[in-house]
Amino acid sequence: MTQQRSHWKSSTGFILAAAGSAVGVGNLWKFPYITWENNGGAFVLIYLLCIPLIGLPIMMAEFIIGRHTQKSAVPALTQLGATTFGGDRWKIVGWVGVIAAAVILSYIAVIAGWAVALFVQCVDWSLTGYTAPSENAFGDFLANTSLQFVFAFFFSAATVVIVCKGVVDGIERANRILMPGLFVMIMFLVCYAVTMDGFGEAIGFLFNPRFDALSDQAILEALGHAFFSLSLGMSIMITYGSYLKRSDSIPRAATIIVGLDTLVALSACVIMYSILFTFPELQSSVSKSATGMLFTTLPPLFYAKMSGGVILGPIFYLLIMFAALSSSISLLEVVVALLIDRFSFSRTRATLVSGTLVFILTVLVVLSLDPANGLSRFQLFGTDESGLFYQLNQLFFRGKAGFFNFLDHLVANWLLPFGGLCITLFTGWFLDKKLCVEELGFIGQDGKPQIWFTGFRVIIRFIAPLAIMYVLYTVITGAADFT
Ligand code: PHE
Repeated sequence: MTQQRSHWKSSTGFILAAAGSAVGVGNLWKFPYITWENNGGAFVLIYLLCIPLIGLPIMMAEFIIGRHTQKSAVPALTQLGATTFGGDRWKIVGWVGVIAAAVILSYIAVIAGWAVALFVQCVDWSLTGYTAPSENAFGDFLANTSLQFVFAFFFSAATVVIVCKGVVDGIERANRILMPGLFVMIMFLVCYAVTMDGFGEAIGFLFNPRFDALSDQAILEALGHAFFSLSLGMSIMITYGSYLKRSDSIPRAATIIVGLDTLVALSACVIMYSILFTFPELQSSVSKSATGMLFTTLPPLFYAKMSGGVILGPIFYLLIMFAALSSSISLLEVVVALLIDRFSFSRTRATLVSGTLVFILTVLVVLSLDPANGLSRFQLFGTDESGLFYQLNQLFFRGKAGFFNFLDHLVANWLLPFGGLCITLFTGWFLDKKLCVEELGFIGQDGKPQIWFTGFRVIIRFIAPLAIMYVLYTVITGAADFT
């Protein structure tokens, strides 16, 4: 088994692929939503501090682990852990990452399926004329399980086909098309937003910090979202880093990726808020449901109230599809790489097996969205209203019912912070210091580590773990809920 490991063909290809993973529905939908809920300005500022101070160093740590070992997460942590405290038990972190990736993929496929459905709908409206949908059109769609299967399946199949083609011919090539396409579309929408009446107010809301409007919970939420948005804590960046050549600079790549991710998140806010301030009557629908806003309020608006809606509608949903696809590719690759590296599967077999397993979860998620289905009332420890199981449901899931909510809650509140914490502790306290300096290239003329490295080390040893521990503490005590 001396198969040569694939490597990204170019540094740009790698940056686009990793940025493709980071830029996703989290940027386009979740970030504008939580920023709105947290009253803008001050929250944005906190987020903009969390990104370089905590997100960036953790991303670099994941790249170090992957590139140094040239292995995906589980074998990489097994190898590096072997000679240090804890031994190969560190591989559990890799496993948790793989499970988190599979879980997220299962429901991103469903959300992306909605975007596919709306894209098809918008193209139809643009070509044959707009007819107002009924009040409850989206609710009906959610309850129509077979239709949802079709769209989620279509999306999952596209992911499987791309990952099956491999790192260079599949993942890198797809991202070379998806990402520039995504940037062009988003810039087009931002330019459109600039012409709207609400643009000025949107900018004010985003960049004018009012600290009296900031809650304690907001700081935690900003940190939690930084994790999700940069795809950290779940082995993705370890896996992508393992296809990185020695000659590429980790700090440079990570900085660009983080920058692109933030730029897209802010652009999405500018677009959404320009619409919300131009049509203030919509603002109440945001607080009711973010998905509702995205999938029910916007389409009629594009066609009935905005000039150029025939172009804006399809572009908007195509954008969401592209963003979701480049993220889901990275999620599937984490599972596939494990099967290849650890169990010597061929790529085709690994992709088909993991694609099928994940789709079974997707099926459960879709079923749970139909209020008539028992899965919509699912609770892990039973629905009994009293006793120990009730307490457990409260502790782990805040008593949330429904399979979809359960998965989302499990990942955002437990798996991602756990993965992130372990990665920072491992890199900061147990990984060889010299190895880190070399991988990062932070070596001065005199052969000693540069000041940059000191900064990296202080963050990865102290600041980041403490911040994440605090997040976990609030999750355990019930003060915070990141879903
Ligand atoms: N980072 C993606 C986003 O911002 C979501 C994601 C999370 C993708 C975790 C992969 C892994 O939407």
